[in-house]
Order: sequence, then structure tokens, then C-alpha cells
Amino acid sequence: MNRNLALEFVRVTEMAAIASARLMGRGDEKAADQAAVDAMRAMLDSVECDATVVIGEGERDEAPMLYIGEKVGMGRGAELEIALDPLEGTTVCATGGYNSISVMAIAEKGNFLHAPDTYMLKIACGPEGRGLIDINESPKENLRRLADAKKCRIADLTAVILDRPRHKELIQEVRDAGARIQLIGDGDVAASIACCSPNSGVDILFGIGGAPEGVISAAALRCMGGDFQGILKPRNDVEIARAKKMGVSDIKKVFKIDDLAKGNVMFVATGVTSGNFLKGVQFKAWGAITHSIVMRSSSGTVRHIEAEHRFDTKPRY
Ligand code: FBP
Repeated sequence: MNRNLALEFVRVTEMAAIASARLMGRGDEKAADQAAVDAMRAMLDSVECDATVVIGEGERDEAPMLYIGEKVGMGRGAELEIALDPLEGTTVCATGGYNSISVMAIAEKGNFLHAPDTYMLKIACGPEGRGLIDINESPKENLRRLADAKKCRIADLTAVILDRPRHKELIQEVRDAGARIQLIGDGDVAASIACCSPNSGVDILFGIGGAPEGVISAAALRCMGGDFQGILKPRNDVEIARAKKMGVSDIKKVFKIDDLAKGNVMFVATGVTSGNFLKGVQFKAWGAITHSIVMRSSSGTVRHIEAEHRFDTKPRY
């Protein structure tokens, strides 16, 4: 994959972030999401690639744009797969909370798990825990392994967990193990990435979130040298059938990070609202400032890009 493509793709998430950030705190999740989708869809066609959306806004019949299977890009150049979420954390954006981002992961054809729109049990951590975490072990054992690797006590570690009733037991287990916890309302992609950043204040992610988000997180952690594992958690037979239709034969399989996102992977994200690792969009009289991250698994380089966008020269904003 041409490395310059990563910089082309970040222009796409910047545009989607600016569009949805206009609706921050306005209480309208649908409108914020739609603004991000429209902007992302429009910008994607300016990128010279022949790409297919494999993780997107849903099946073709339920999503008019950025649906699974939709062709995007100029239709020439590298054949790519894209896993995207124009606005990850719609409720966060609509309420002006922390950690909503616009995000895309890109790989060569055939390298992303085509994850169904169901739930996934996840564990994620930064580079110190790579190869040590095990989703089939208890939270306590995983915390112990990570604490040993980080040469600290379990009490020094912070686990990040989605604040959901389904996590009541998990939260108790982590508390009993002695770790600190950051409960988040939404946004487990940003939370997974934050586990790789030494100053984010979180070390390990546990719990059940969206399966598509799991693939996107895995792509990011591949670039950052972290680790991720997931097990699909379909809620009913319809979701099991959908998973099988998408090529998942073993529903109970433990997906390791490379099963979710293999080969050369690129990852781009732009902050919509501020969070653990990205600042949100700031609007000025002359335009807007965005903060993005651009990463490639082949080099491991993590680029932070702060961009000033002038609205007088880019009237489409
Ligand atoms: P949306 O952007 O689709 O609102 O997803 C936000 C999110 O919090 C994800 O980060 C997470 O994986 C998923 O929702 C959890 O699902 P649920 O809200 O159903 O528990």
C-alpha cells in the first residue's frame, strides 16, 4: 500500500469530524451521525484507490451510504478494504461527552475479518502486554500478567470498561483483583487505543462492545504494537446466521489480533470531541482546528496531525 494514501485518508476523517462536531451537544444523534456519513462518503471518492467497505454503516438494505460491500474511492489504484465508523460514539457527540472520533482502518483486500453487526467480548492492552493477555483467563489473571510486564502492582493499573449492566460481574471481578477502573459511557475504539498510550491513564480494556468496532480497534493496535482478542457474542439465532453468512464458521472462536486485521494496515482517526488521546474539533471565526492520528503497521510510526482548516478557501465545510 502506498504510504501516502494514509495522508489522503486522514483528510476524510478530518472532514467527517468537522461535519459532526458542528452538532456536538445538540442532542440529535442521528443528525450528527448523518453529517459524518455524508462528509466521509463525499471525501472518500477523492482518494485514488479501488476500495470496498467491509465494516460500515450496516447491510445494504439498512444503510443508504457506506454500507457493507459499497465501492468507494476513485475506482483505480490499489484494491483495498475499508473498515470505517464515520462517528464512533454518536451519543457522546450528541451530548458533548468525551472520546467521540471519526475513524477508518484500511487494509489490502482480504485482510479484515468481515465482522457481523453483533457484540464481541474484548480484551485490549498496550505493547507491554502483547502475547501475554488471554481472553479465556480471568480478569485477575490478565491484570496480574500485565502488572508483571509493566513492573507495577495490579493496584497501579486502570481497566477501562463500558458502563453497562451486562458488565456488573466483570466490574466486581476487576475491583476484587484490586485494579482501578474507568467506566466509559461509549467509545471502546478510543478506549482500546488509549491502552497503548503511556499518558492516557488506562492500561487494559475488558468487556463486551460492538464486533465491528473490535475489528477497527484491532487494526489500530496492530499499528501501535498492542494486543487485542475477541469472541463474538451474538444475541440470537438471527445474529448467528448473519455471522455464518459473513464467513464465520466457528462462532466461539477466539479471534486474535491478526485474525481481525492482518497484513499491512493503515489507521486514521480524527477527534470529534476531546478524549484520552485526541483533541476534539475547535471552531474559529476563520475555520476549524482538528487533531488526528495516522498510523501504519508496516512502519509503526504514529503521526499526530493538528490541522488548521480555513473555511474561506474550502467552502464545502
Ligand atoms: P455508536 O457510535 O454506534 O453509538 O457506538 C458506540 C459504542 O459505545 C461502541 O464504542 C461500542 O462498541 C458499542 O457502542 C457498545 O454497544 P452498546 O451501546 O449497545 O452497549
